Amino acid sequence: MKLVVHAKKLYTPIGKDPRRGSQMSVVEKYEDVFLCVEDGKIVEILDHKPRSTNLFLQGDLVLPGFLDCHTHIPFYGYRERDFLRRAFGLSYSQIHESGGGIYESVSKLRGATIDELIRFNLSLINNLLTKGVTTIECKTGYGLDEQNELKQLRAIEILKSISPIDMIPTFMGAHAIPKSFNQQDYTDYLIKILDLVKDKCDFVDIFCDLGAFDTYNAERYLTAATEKGFKVRIHANELSNVGAVKIAVKLKAVSADHLLKLNEEDIELLSQSDTIAVLMPTTSFYLNENYAPARRLIDSGVAVALASDFNPGSSPVLEPSLVMNLAVRFLKMSPKEVLTAYTLNSACVLGVADRSGTIEVGKDADFVVYKEADLETVMYLVGIIPKYVVKRGQIFEN
Ligand code: NIG
Ligand code: FE
Repeated sequence: MKLVVHAKKLYTPIGKDPRRGSQMSVVEKYEDVFLCVEDGKIVEILDHKPRSTNLFLQGDLVLPGFLDCHTHIPFYGYRERDFLRRAFGLSYSQIHESGGGIYESVSKLRGATIDELIRFNLSLINNLLTKGVTTIECKTGYGLDEQNELKQLRAIEILKSISPIDMIPTFMGAHAIPKSFNQQDYTDYLIKILDLVKDKCDFVDIFCDLGAFDTYNAERYLTAATEKGFKVRIHANELSNVGAVKIAVKLKAVSADHLLKLNEEDIELLSQSDTIAVLMPTTSFYLNENYAPARRLIDSGVAVALASDFNPGSSPVLEPSLVMNLAVRFLKMSPKEVLTAYTLNSACVLGVADRSGTIEVGKDADFVVYKEADLETVMYLVGIIPKYVVKRGQIFEN
């Protein structure tokens, strides 16, 4: 079956490698082109309508599907009480220390059956697809023991088999230290679990921050993960600067995520490395924290990716247009930089840029089609929804 989409305007970054610094603004712009799709792949981009088509769609704006390279899906249930406590004065750390926060989500997840977990998360994932997100990261980290971390990984496997969205799993048993363990022992316990999850995911992540894992345990944990063949990522400098960026760079982490508390040395280190900076402005918005110094990072030549950090505590935001809006307003990123960060660079973090992240012949047909919009509109109009979302050639109409 051949699908043809007529795009009045089409913007896309190009390639399979992360764009860094000033290269993030290099985006192709096509006008009046016909995007031809066969067997889920982009086969041609023409300047005229081809003769034979089975399906024909039209749009004013076509962009690559968004890739959300940092989410905490799957979790179970929400944390409205945290939201209210934070709104009226408590900090994220105070709530965490008092046994709320991540711990509350852990007990909810442990109490859920796999069916409940799948039903709850499927509706979240479908919601993201509707809004143009065609690939997401899925993290564990609300189980914090072997049985429940594996339950989360099993849920991801099942969700992958029933949803068209691509899901790239990350093992994040190192999300918090269970109350029944000390940090050293829990880190040893996790290192043993790595062998059990090796065939289920390629990535390992750790929350290295004040009140979470210290740099000593983060370094030995990620070193063990690297030796076992995992690619590593770090929740770095979200709440404080404990030196997590130095570890990320030293261990050649694929990404350092959050980066709200950075000094000049951290920026310099990142600019000399291949570690991608994953920035999530909805978390700053939700925690009423500062925003990451995106401008300084990009101007120093770092590759920046954008993501939602979607989770029930620090970023309950199912809204890609808000991620982009805050990126323009508070990260001071240009619309072209935002596009590159939320598509190609995010695909590079997830290791899927050979097949997605851009609109190019040979890649998967993952793209969004808007009516009455230009590139800036999708960042300006919070809540804007594409008319069509195309995932591997399959059309979802809103
Ligand atoms: O990325 N910082 C740690 N993890 C999440 C929050 C998870 C939660 O609060 O449930 C984050 O902000
Ligand atoms: Fe996170």
